[in-house]
Amino acid sequence: MKRVDDFRLRFGKNEYVPIMVGGMGVDISTSELALEAARLGGIGHISDAMVEDVSDRKFDTSFVKDKTKLYKFNINNSDKSVVQFDLERLADAQRRHIGATMAAKKGDGLIFVNCMEKLTMNGPRETLRTRLNAALDAGIDGITLSAGLHFGSFALMADHPRFREAKLGIIVSSVRALQIFLRKNAKLDRLPDFIIVEGPLAGGHLGFGMDWAEYDLMAITKELLAYLKGENLDIPLIAAGGIFTGSDAVSFLEAGAAGVQVATRFTITNECGLPAKVKQEYVKATEDDIIVNGISPTGYPMRMLKSTPAIGAGIRPGCESYGYLLDATGNCAYINSYNREVAAHPNEKNIVVMDKTCLCTHMRNFNCWTCGHYTYRLKDTTHKKPDGDYQLLSAEHVFKDYQFSIDNQIALPEKEF
Ligand SMILES: Cc1cc2nc3c(=O)[nH]c(=O)nc-3n(C[C@H](O)[C@H](O)[C@H](O)COP(=O)(O)O)c2cc1C
Repeated sequence: MKRVDDFRLRFGKNEYVPIMVGGMGVDISTSELALEAARLGGIGHISDAMVEDVSDRKFDTSFVKDKTKLYKFNINNSDKSVVQFDLERLADAQRRHIGATMAAKKGDGLIFVNCMEKLTMNGPRETLRTRLNAALDAGIDGITLSAGLHFGSFALMADHPRFREAKLGIIVSSVRALQIFLRKNAKLDRLPDFIIVEGPLAGGHLGFGMDWAEYDLMAITKELLAYLKGENLDIPLIAAGGIFTGSDAVSFLEAGAAGVQVATRFTITNECGLPAKVKQEYVKATEDDIIVNGISPTGYPMRMLKSTPAIGAGIRPGCESYGYLLDATGNCAYINSYNREVAAHPNEKNIVVMDKTCLCTHMRNFNCWTCGHYTYRLKDTTHKKPDGDYQLLSAEHVFKDYQFSIDNQIALPEKEF
């Protein structure tokens, strides 16, 4: 019987434990978590979602305060087109976050950054160009392009000296998305170094419609493997979404995947950025508590706990401070929903907005409890304490459980109480 450690993920001449810890914004996959994966010989992701806010918290910068001050005059205006990111400051925040993580790296693994292209930031092309190039400047080992695959993203980095050296990859959920990406990038003569296939059981935004339950990660993985073989493309394929045990991972590696990307099991580790109270919400969740809904202004379905405070919260849009989801015309679906409710209830102090949420503010405050489908199984991975709370795990424990477990077993940690 095989275990994950019997396989290796290869990039050129280098070999890695074939476990990637997925990017979880906003700062849920912290540097500390990613660094553990790298120390143990795998690949860890940080995320650059709301990087100015992340920088403020980590390095005591004042990007958000300064932006809020600059655009305060616009707070009651529903037209947010004036609220622009200063690209110099954005690059500065990105270099700080990534530079500090890279400086702390130990071990043989790699650190990648997850760049979600749905963060359109009131200037999709220029802000993304800035984020990608600043990440390369700061020495990141690799970049994973996700959520809303922007087919022109490789071209945005093509002039960077590290364009052909850094590992660049994409997340897709179908052969079709990969085909379009490859076609649009053909003239760059630069293939992705890895492809992550994310199935419908993942956390965060889903690359499927509300019919997500009709899709199956293993089936899509096999389609992609057949397509790559047919095209003579030797690109490592990493499977993600609902891989809960080492044995689940082995089944994908045996099918021909080069690695797996996992996230949910790490949400209850000490290194994960969620507040301790929220980690307990995750570990205590039952299957009925986990839903997929359409409240994300991105238009993509998102999986979350149904008790998440972000559902129904009718707060004023926080675009002057954040504005990460403003599209190229300065609009966000939440602004429209919020204004509709304000107009319908002019004398109401507590506005309720059910169809959309202010994702920036709620992600920033860890009030949007996005999670993977198998979050309800987390309680099987640790011990319940006498007070009803669950013991948190170390990232090393979870990583090694994926790496060495067999027979669908889950190793429990040593009791700390
Ligand atoms: C709490 C949480 C937040 C996530 N945030 C992001 C994100 O910001 N960007 C992204 O591309 N994927 C995100 N994901 C998806 C993961 O990176 C990963 O691909 C997926 O969840 C793997 O499936 P698993 O959670 O079942 O192991 C998130 C997942 C979780 C659980």
